[in-house]
Amino acid sequence: MLKEDFYAMKKNGTPISMVTVYDAAFARMAEASNIDMLLVGDSAANVMLGLDRTSAISMEEMCIFTCAVKRGAPNSYIISDMPFGSDTEPRNAVLNARRFIEAGANAVKLEGVPLESLRAIREEGIDFVGHLGLLPQTAKNFKQVGKSDEEAEKIFEQAKILNNLKPCAIVLEHIPSELGKKVSQAVDAPTIGIGAGMETDGQVLVMHDILRMHPYKLPPFAKSFANFWEAGVSAFSDYKKWVIEKK
Ligand code: KIV
Repeated sequence: MLKEDFYAMKKNGTPISMVTVYDAAFARMAEASNIDMLLVGDSAANVMLGLDRTSAISMEEMCIFTCAVKRGAPNSYIISDMPFGSDTEPRNAVLNARRFIEAGANAVKLEGVPLESLRAIREEGIDFVGHLGLLPQTAKNFKQVGKSDEEAEKIFEQAKILNNLKPCAIVLEHIPSELGKKVSQAVDAPTIGIGAGMETDGQVLVMHDILRMHPYKLPPFAKSFANFWEAGVSAFSDYKKWVIEKK
């Protein structure tokens, strides 16, 4: 897939699917399922490394996850999240974005509107995905954003700024569905929602929520399509029994 294909999907009304993946095994599974975009999210900090915040993950760790995803899904469109602090200064942002491309990513994702860094990345010929609404790297809490007129207007204006830079897509996280719809109608770039209603051009969810790989409460907008937690605990328990019984 190319960036132009995602724009064409938006134009002809074909919803775009994006999932997070972090390793070769699950990337292979996502590729076999024809998922349109694979996101090596910095949610890896939480779900893969057991850290309490996404801002704690490093470039090195994100590059390791990106390489693994590329090995498992060599034919997929891969997006790597620029970790906290890696995109603040434009020259650094370009160097870090290049590292992700060399690791196998097709594009990088940046939270918010670090305008100079975004311009520098685009001038370098590197594609990017925007991310607006709830920004986990800097958020003080995980409440919905964009509820007040002022916040909604800010997100709407930010989306237009990103759109002018021709992103591959814009992720909209945890905003009211009317705002998700309004932004999606106003920009040419495909919008990918996570808790942004049904009128965005596509949807993204974290793999561990889709497969229910943990025993914790899901975020209000997430949905599970399997229960790997129960299947896994059951399989490990059966294995332990098999060992104890010397079978
Ligand atoms: O890191 C991540 O998983 C993300 C998605 C929630 C969009 O940024």
